[in-house]
Amino acid sequence: MKKEQWGTNFGFLMAAIGSAVGLGNLWGFPYKMGKSGGFAFLVIYLVLVVLVGSVVMLGELGLGRKTGKGVMGTYLEFSKKHAWMGYMGVVSGFLILSFYCVLGGVVTRYMIGYAAQLVGAEGFAGQGADFFGYFLYSPLSMVLFYAIFMALTLTIVMGGVQKGIEKFSSIAMPALVAILVFIIIYVACQPGAVEGYKFMFKPDFSVFSNPEIGFFGVFKSAAGQMFFSLSLGMGCMMTYGSYLSKKENLQKNALIIPLADTTIALLAGCAIMPACAAFGVDFSRGPGLLFVSMQTVFENMGGFGAIIGFLFYFLVFIAALTSSISILEVCTAFQIDKDVIKGKEPNRKKISFIYAIAIFIFGLPVALDALGSGGAAIMAPFELLGLEAGGPGYAMWNDCWLDVYDLIAEGILMPIGALVMSVLIGWFWKTDIIKNECELSGKPFVGYKFYDFCFKFVVPVVMAFIFYAQLVDFFS
Ligand code: PFF
Repeated sequence: MKKEQWGTNFGFLMAAIGSAVGLGNLWGFPYKMGKSGGFAFLVIYLVLVVLVGSVVMLGELGLGRKTGKGVMGTYLEFSKKHAWMGYMGVVSGFLILSFYCVLGGVVTRYMIGYAAQLVGAEGFAGQGADFFGYFLYSPLSMVLFYAIFMALTLTIVMGGVQKGIEKFSSIAMPALVAILVFIIIYVACQPGAVEGYKFMFKPDFSVFSNPEIGFFGVFKSAAGQMFFSLSLGMGCMMTYGSYLSKKENLQKNALIIPLADTTIALLAGCAIMPACAAFGVDFSRGPGLLFVSMQTVFENMGGFGAIIGFLFYFLVFIAALTSSISILEVCTAFQIDKDVIKGKEPNRKKISFIYAIAIFIFGLPVALDALGSGGAAIMAPFELLGLEAGGPGYAMWNDCWLDVYDLIAEGILMPIGALVMSVLIGWFWKTDIIKNECELSGKPFVGYKFYDFCFKFVVPVVMAFIFYAQLVDFFS
C-alpha cells in the first residue's frame, strides 16, 4: 500500500490543531482554571507548555516523520522490545475515545436541542438547566447519541488521511475560530462580563496558600491538562507526523500547534468565564460547567439564548469531532502497521470499522452509569466491585466509569508514554535523532541545548512528579 500523506502543510496544521483543540480546551481548561485559582493556574500552565509540551510535541512529530509509521510501527522500528509502547498507545485510544464519544454525543444532543429552540420547538423536554441530570438517566438516548457521534468519527476516518481527516479539519477549524470570536465579542458586550476577565488575568496566587489545593495541586492539575490538551503521550502526534512530507519545517509546526491550542483554550476561557460572570453563574463549579452552567447562561440570556446556545454547542461539537477522529486514527494506524509488518495488505475501512465497534462496546458503561450518580442502568465501578465508598481511590475516581477510564489514560498511560519517549530520545537515541530529522527540510535546527536539556531532565522530572501526585491522591 502506498503511504498516505497530507496534501498541504496547512491541511496538516488544521488536522493537528483540530486534534489538540477539543473538549480539553473548551471544557477542561476553563473548569480546571475555575477550580484551581484562575491566574495562578494559567501561569503554571504556560510554563509547562513551553518546557514540556512543545518539547514532547517535537519529539512525537519527529519520530513519526522519521519512521513514517504510527505509534506501534515507530517503536518497532527501533526495537521489538518497545512493542509495549505501541500497545499502550492503542489502549489509551480505547479509553479516551470511548468516553470522548459519549461526551460528544451529549454535546450533539445539546446542539440539536438549541437548533429545535431556534425554530420555536421545545428542545430540552421542558427541563431547562436541569436537562443534564435528566438526560444522563435516559439510557436509550445516551447510547443513541453516543452511537451517532462514533459513527460520524468513523465516517471521516474511513475517508482516509487526505480526503477524510484533512478535508474535514480544513473547513471545520476556521469555522470554529470564527464562531468563537463571534461569541467572545457578544459576551464582552454584556454588563458584568469584566469580573470574568479579572478572574483569569488579575495576578492572584492566593490559591497556593489554600491547604486543599496548594502549589502542587495546581501544578498537577495544569500538567495533566496540558498533556491531554496537546494530544501527547499516546502517539497521536507521532501518527499525524508520519503523514508529513520531509520538506516541511517540523520545528515551526511543533511550535505553532501548542501556540494555537493554548490561544484557543484562553479564548474559550474569555467566552465562558465572562459569560458566567455576566449572567450570574458560578464558574468554579467544576465539570458541570460545559452543560449545566452554560445552559443556565443561555437561559438567562433571554431572546438571544437559543442562537448563542446553538453556536456554542456547534463549536464544541466541531472541536470534539476533530479530536475524536485523531484518536480513532491512532488505533487505525496501529493496526495498519501491524498488517504491514505481517506482509498483509491493510484495509483502512475495515480496520477503522472494527476498532470503532470494539471501542463503542467498551465505552457503554460510561454512557450508562449516569456519571455515577446512583440508580442508573449500570452500576458505577465501586458499587460493582462491592468496594467501600470512601476507601482508597474513591474520592479521586468520583465513582464513575468516565473517571476510571480517564485516570488510567490521562493519569497513568499518557505520562508513561511521554516519560519513556523523552528518556529514549534524551539518553539512548540522543537528541540528534530529532535534530537530523528536522534538518531534512534544509533549515538549521534552533535551540539544540534547550531541547536536549528538556528531553533529558525537565520532561522526565515533571512526569515523575505527576505519578507521585497521582499516588498521593489515590491513597488520600
Ligand atoms: N486534545 C484533545 C482535547 O483537548 O480535547 C483530546 C485528545 C485528542 C487527547 C487526541 C489525546 C489524543 F490523542
